[in-house]
Amino acid sequence: MTDDTASPRPTPGWLIDEVASAGRENLDVDHVARYDAKEDADAEAELSLLRGLGLDGRSQLVDLGAGTGQFTLAAAGACTRVVAVDVSPVMIERLRAKIAEAGHANIEVVRAGFLTYVHRGEPVDFAYSRLALHHLPDFWKALALARVRRILRPGGVFRLWDVAFDFDPEEAGARVEAWCAQGGDHVEGEWSRAEFEEHVRDEHSTFRWLLEPMIERCGFEIEDAAYSEDGFFGAYVLRAT
Ligand SMILES: C[S@@+](CC[C@H](N)C(=O)[O-])C[C@H]1O[C@@H](n2cnc3c(N)ncnc32)[C@H](O)[C@@H]1O
Repeated sequence: MTDDTASPRPTPGWLIDEVASAGRENLDVDHVARYDAKEDADAEAELSLLRGLGLDGRSQLVDLGAGTGQFTLAAAGACTRVVAVDVSPVMIERLRAKIAEAGHANIEVVRAGFLTYVHRGEPVDFAYSRLALHHLPDFWKALALARVRRILRPGGVFRLWDVAFDFDPEEAGARVEAWCAQGGDHVEGEWSRAEFEEHVRDEHSTFRWLLEPMIERCGFEIEDAAYSEDGFFGAYVLRAT
């Protein structure tokens, strides 16, 4: 494991503070400690999907918003180089501990955000991001998507997962209420109603019909888009044009 902290790029005064917008819970030591017990990132299934898209032992991959590294660690066994990027120092600490325990030598950990990560080396074959882009408001999402495009080689694949809303504004009240209602009373081992409410209230998930034109405008072709039945989770295969 190599270790790289923060971006060497000078940050202009107008740049959003990505740590401040990283989500309260992602900066919370207790939440990070219980994260893996409550969220299964289905890393093996994701890896198998990417293998079907050409990922192999020569591939290089950047995981943006890597969190506790469920996918990063799985990918490290299948690629030559994995760069795990996250803006939260608490997540990064947990990630480093897990990498050290697993003993992977081909993971670089970078404490940076979508908007500050400086890619070193040749453009990569795969970019990955799960449940992270919604931490940025839409203007910044577009800038982030354009930056991800520049990390990738032409023809490279960006696997993007996020909470995005696949319904019309008129439906929002009822749909969001139903989504929050599936939350439990506790934060251990499950997502609570309060956490779902916080997501909608304080984070920046957007409508599918706003996200997709942004994706295309930033240099990707949408090869596949699959939404959960409730219309709250989108999983994309994006091809760098
Ligand atoms: C819900 S976690 C998802 C972690 C992991 N991708 C997974 O699927 O389990 C969201 C992660 O995105 C990170 N994050 C939030 N804003 C970010 C940004 N602007 N740039 C990079 N990472 C960010 C958070 O620190 C957190 O680790």
